[in-house]
Amino acid sequence: MTLIDRVPDDPDVDIISHDTYVTGFPHARFRRMREETPVSWVEESDGSGFWAITKHADVIEVSRDYHRFTASRGIRIEEMKPDELEARRTMMEYDPPEHTRLRRLVQPGFTPKVVATYEEAFRRLVGVVFDRVLPLGEFDFVTEIARELPIRMLCRLLGIPEADAAKMVAWGDQMISNADPEYTPVVVDKMDTEEYRLLPFRSPAALEVFRYAEEIAMARRGHPQDDVLTTLLTAEPDGEPLSDLEFKNFFTLLMVAGNETTRHTISYGLTFLQDHPEELERLRGDIVGLSETATEEVLRASAVTMHFRRTVAEDTEVRGVPMRRGDKVVIWYTSANYDEEVFTDPFVFDLTRDPNPHVTFGTGRHVCLGASLARLEVRVFLEEFMSRVKGFSVGAPDRLRSNFIRGIKHLPVEVTL
Ligand code: HEM
Repeated sequence: MTLIDRVPDDPDVDIISHDTYVTGFPHARFRRMREETPVSWVEESDGSGFWAITKHADVIEVSRDYHRFTASRGIRIEEMKPDELEARRTMMEYDPPEHTRLRRLVQPGFTPKVVATYEEAFRRLVGVVFDRVLPLGEFDFVTEIARELPIRMLCRLLGIPEADAAKMVAWGDQMISNADPEYTPVVVDKMDTEEYRLLPFRSPAALEVFRYAEEIAMARRGHPQDDVLTTLLTAEPDGEPLSDLEFKNFFTLLMVAGNETTRHTISYGLTFLQDHPEELERLRGDIVGLSETATEEVLRASAVTMHFRRTVAEDTEVRGVPMRRGDKVVIWYTSANYDEEVFTDPFVFDLTRDPNPHVTFGTGRHVCLGASLARLEVRVFLEEFMSRVKGFSVGAPDRLRSNFIRGIKHLPVEVTL
């Protein structure tokens, strides 16, 4: 059996510590939890804690039942004070019906049908980046390729100048990677971030994103376009338009969610292929026939958004474990994707796996808005990479310090064309 993502086999490792994930996802610990205590209480250093949900069926149950498990009290492990929550709220922190009204504003721009119309543009984008980078022979796959692709596509989709893509990446890195000193001078668990507590991710970079969003808003109000951002600025979901802060938070959410996730998935895909030469050969032999199932398997095995959180809205139970109103519940997608009860040989990277009911994009009302876009990007990347590159070898991944995003910061690669 081939192990995906080789990591130290420590079944007692601390799953809250950001440091844990620098060496990889702690599969051994989660496997033990799935087997022995699938719904278990995890204590935090401040005396609080959360229910860790590790099985596929339970992740689905919690995600789909917003009456029992609300998103309105926050979606990250970090507990927010009421004023922080209000200042930082996006559609992710609403339940229906408010959530439905907000989601309706952006949904039309991300349907599978609309996203399919971007395929050629994305393929051309990949071509331009590959033409520049692949002839180098040796390079950092993340900074030269993976980081460049999703953000440029997102800029096009939102009608933002591509010249600003690098700024978006840097701001996105600082915010979502707020526990990694390579990306931010203000590391959340090591410094006093009180001053920034009302900003997304408690990050000062959000101030710059907000300023940028204000400029975009001004430009769109002067010259409305047929695009998602104009809709956000002109719509009246509750009988009145979004406030400035609501628009800025929405803009930040789209930028971060659409950029910081897919790029890590692509990087992980390359490491999995390198670790499974027989699968790589299969893919090379039939890229057209296999690219869709291969994309799903890369998504399953990577599950880069490791968890989100809900809060118990009324006393309840999961798998017979009683929970009290107000308890935090953390749903671990990465663990669910390796649940032995659902996936045969989950640690085998199988490019023909079908069915592949992974929960990488979550499920229920908050299911990932960008799922079709992410799928398209991973598939087109695989198709173009396999058709252009004869051989490749990747070095050790330099992983992100984060208990939230399973990311790769640097990945040395050598290619032959
Ligand atoms: C492989 C890449 C991606 C992964 C792993 C991923 C993962 C997720 C997950 C797990 C959720 C559910 C959150 C919850 O239930 O609370 C989610 C929601 C969301 N995703 Fe993605 N995502 C990816 C790509 C994208 C892209 C390309 C976009 C484009 C803008 C995007 C935008 C969003 C938004 C806006 C939400 C919130 C939806 C809501 O609350 O209704 N994501 N994503």
